[in-house]
Amino acid sequence: MTSNSSISPSSEASVLQARDITLRFGGVTALADVGIDVRDNELLAIIGPNGAGKSSLMNVLSGFYQPQKGSVHYRGQDIKGRAVHEIARDGVVRTFQGTHLFSNMSVIDNILVGRYSQMRSSMG
Ligand SMILES: Nc1ncnc2c1ncn2[C@@H]1O[C@H](COP(=O)(O)OP(=O)(O)O)[C@@H](O)[C@H]1O
Ligand SMILES: [Mg+2]
Repeated sequence: MTSNSSISPSSEASVLQARDITLRFGGVTALADVGIDVRDNELLAIIGPNGAGKSSLMNVLSGFYQPQKGSVHYRGQDIKGRAVHEIARDGVVRTFQGTHLFSNMSVIDNILVGRYSQMRSSMG
């Protein structure tokens, strides 16, 4: 996947911002200088043919893959290189194409697992 960051809207109001992301798997360049801006409350779709690099980009944004080059900022913080669970806790979360259910749990409990990282409780 390649993109020109100049086609992105003004980066001023973007909450998620990636710049110049290059990701290689050996000799395969999955992402070449990709940039993206996602604004608050924006619903953005990434489309492209099989192998275009959509999943690779999602994996870079959520911290599953470390790109060889580029930066990822979320709400002003540099999140590249941080642990996946920390990035998820802060709000950048991915789902997966294939579903994996906890077969010993109820439907509602399976759904609630996805909410767990956003739940807060205390003794006070
Ligand atoms: N874990 C991986 N190891 C090696 N090559 C990969 C891996 N993940 C993706 N690729 C390669 O990177 C390119 C982009 O793949 P991918 O991000 O899965 O595209 P999409 O999600 O758009 O179908 C493809 O050439 C794919 O074969
Ligand atoms: Mg994919």
